[in-house]
Amino acid sequence: MPLPSSKRLFFSFLLLSVSASAFAQQQPSSAAIEQKVTALLQQMTLEEKVGQLNQYSGRELTGPASNRKNDLLNSIRSGQVGSMLNVKGVKDTREIQAEALKSRLKIPLLFSLDVIHGYKTVFPVPLAEAASWDMAAIRLSAHVAAKEAAASGIHWTFAPMVDVGRDPRWGRVMEGAGEDTYLGSQIAKARVLGFQGEKLGGTDAVMACAKHFAAYGAAIAGRDYNAVDMSQQQLWETYLPPFKAAADAGAATFMNSFNTLNGTPATASSYLQRDILKGQWKYQGFVVSDWGSIGEMVPWGYAQNLADAAQKAIAAGSDMDMESDAYHQNLAHLVKDGKVDVAQVDEAVRRILRKKFELGLFDDPYKFSDAKREKKVLNDPQNRVAARQMAQKSMVLLKNENNALPLGKQLRKIALIGPLSKAKRDLGGSWTVLADTTEIVSIYDGLTKRAGKNTQVLYAKGCDVEGNSRQGFAAAVEAAKQADVVVLTVGETWDMTGEAKSRADIHLPGVQEELFNALKATGKPVVAVMLAGRPLIFNNIADRAEAILYAWWPGSEGGNALADVLYGDYNPAGKLPSSFPRAVGQIPVAYTQYSTGRPVTMPGQIKYKSAYIDVPNTPRYAFGYGLSYTTFRYSDLKLSSPTMTAAESIQVQFTLTNTGNVAGEEVTQLYLHDPIASTVRPLKELKDFQKVMLKPGESKTITFTIDKEKLAFYNQKLEWVAEPGDFNLMLGSASDDIRLEGKFTLLP
Ligand code: GLC
Repeated sequence: MPLPSSKRLFFSFLLLSVSASAFAQQQPSSAAIEQKVTALLQQMTLEEKVGQLNQYSGRELTGPASNRKNDLLNSIRSGQVGSMLNVKGVKDTREIQAEALKSRLKIPLLFSLDVIHGYKTVFPVPLAEAASWDMAAIRLSAHVAAKEAAASGIHWTFAPMVDVGRDPRWGRVMEGAGEDTYLGSQIAKARVLGFQGEKLGGTDAVMACAKHFAAYGAAIAGRDYNAVDMSQQQLWETYLPPFKAAADAGAATFMNSFNTLNGTPATASSYLQRDILKGQWKYQGFVVSDWGSIGEMVPWGYAQNLADAAQKAIAAGSDMDMESDAYHQNLAHLVKDGKVDVAQVDEAVRRILRKKFELGLFDDPYKFSDAKREKKVLNDPQNRVAARQMAQKSMVLLKNENNALPLGKQLRKIALIGPLSKAKRDLGGSWTVLADTTEIVSIYDGLTKRAGKNTQVLYAKGCDVEGNSRQGFAAAVEAAKQADVVVLTVGETWDMTGEAKSRADIHLPGVQEELFNALKATGKPVVAVMLAGRPLIFNNIADRAEAILYAWWPGSEGGNALADVLYGDYNPAGKLPSSFPRAVGQIPVAYTQYSTGRPVTMPGQIKYKSAYIDVPNTPRYAFGYGLSYTTFRYSDLKLSSPTMTAAESIQVQFTLTNTGNVAGEEVTQLYLHDPIASTVRPLKELKDFQKVMLKPGESKTITFTIDKEKLAFYNQKLEWVAEPGDFNLMLGSASDDIRLEGKFTLLP
């Protein structure tokens, strides 16, 4: 199947935008919807209103008879449920929707699911997609996932996860866009638009859900579900902007988070949910609690019991209760006892009904459950083409010495060694909700197909991902001795990163590094392919392998995409969205470091400086880093003016040249630094980037615009200000590979 060029990807994306915006004209106006919501609210009893605020997981509904199944069906039939999660497929969603329509007011259910990186077609995990820095591809990935899910009766996905993650001990870094606020904000927007299109209601789109609100990625010690403590500046400057970007892109829903923020559980935080989201940001969607988080106020020691938790949650603006049953059991009593103002219940119900009208569910509760469309969409070969392209774009070339890559056509024998060489499930990563993982293309399948008849692929597992058995080493070494090159696949199993998968040690598990040493001892060149959902520590391999490709968890087409990159059919252009530590002790090692009062100015000169005595301050691999099979030159930096006022902007121009002999893409990165400010500023902050394709020898003039917004920060009074003075400008291929520098002044 010919891989369409990026032009075709562009046209498919163009088609997506046109179809979505064309659909927008058919939507009833919001005034009309408000009238319908008001009219319906007036008919509802208090119990029916509370019913809309309950969400349950429906796995049992399609299973054998059980008390839970009976209770759920009875609640659904009596209008006591507003939404179900984990009910999927046209058949099941039709059946359960029919039960909801037996209720007095026939209010349709919302069906929701964690479609995090694909529904049937598995895309690379979100952190891998972030490494593509390709907003069109990221948006298309979300659109394909939405098309497949919407064709299977799903109205709402619990994605994108937009938590900034700077601690790779926290397993959920896999689900986000990495450590940077600016990149994370661009990706949040792309994912929301990909899932929802320009406006809700199309049967090729689902409601998005910006989660986890807020600052969940800063859990203390990288331990999931833990407390979060941070300054207001840090919250507003680093962790909130991707949520604001999601809200501005029209995210239909938000999900709150399990953590406390400065002592208050997020689910009970009126500051987050009412003051910021629904107040300052004027957010019109609704907030769903994370699984049981309302009830978790009790073990947090914040609520006496479920009734107390329900009262605190509804007061704080948590509209829908996922799985804690707190609202179902208590809210009506709390209203009748005068402890909860019914206006808070009405507001929550209004927000939820608004979305059900926008989706068109009252006109046709079954519009998303069409068996013919499900069959057609789920088997569209274009979906796997998009998945393969995204997997290619997500892979990051970390090292390539002695031209180990791309693999040459003259190779006669490749030794494919490692515990993930024939893996399928592991390439899907976690949160693969429906995927038939047997359909995932393994690395072995992809490589043997690409190698063709003239090249023999010798396979040996070598060892397991975990455990300390070295029994497979001998066969692996034997295969290596016979081969021209070793391709070693190491990393994590699919369930070693994700929710509730915090690790205190993020080295390669088991005896994988020892296997590498045994293979290296044969003297054959070793190409290490790393498969994981998070940054790992692998210093020995980093020092001694000829080449290293970080392939993350690349999804359904992972084996084919990896072969495309290894053979140079696709020139890798991925850039790390997260810093990779040398040691766990460095964490957080994000690139947004401060100078400190005792900066290390000369390598090695660390006496009485802000430094470790056992490792350098720098990460093993920096944010924004990634190699290509070609090289790029940055030259001729020009600024339109050396000064600007707050009302003006400066054009920054430079020439980017492909100085190698193959075409390739470069992600050029613009960093700024405010060296003197009323709040100490990081040494560099990403403020813009462009991904540019260049033929061999081709040059292009690249232009960035610097305006006041790119200079602003939250001062000690939490005002968003750009302070007059000099600014340092840096253009680079990575946060630690600055190629051009300049200065300009913001005038008073
Ligand atoms: C989980 C996750 C959340 C997910 C939800 C529903 O606990 O925290 O991200 O969307 O429950 O599965």
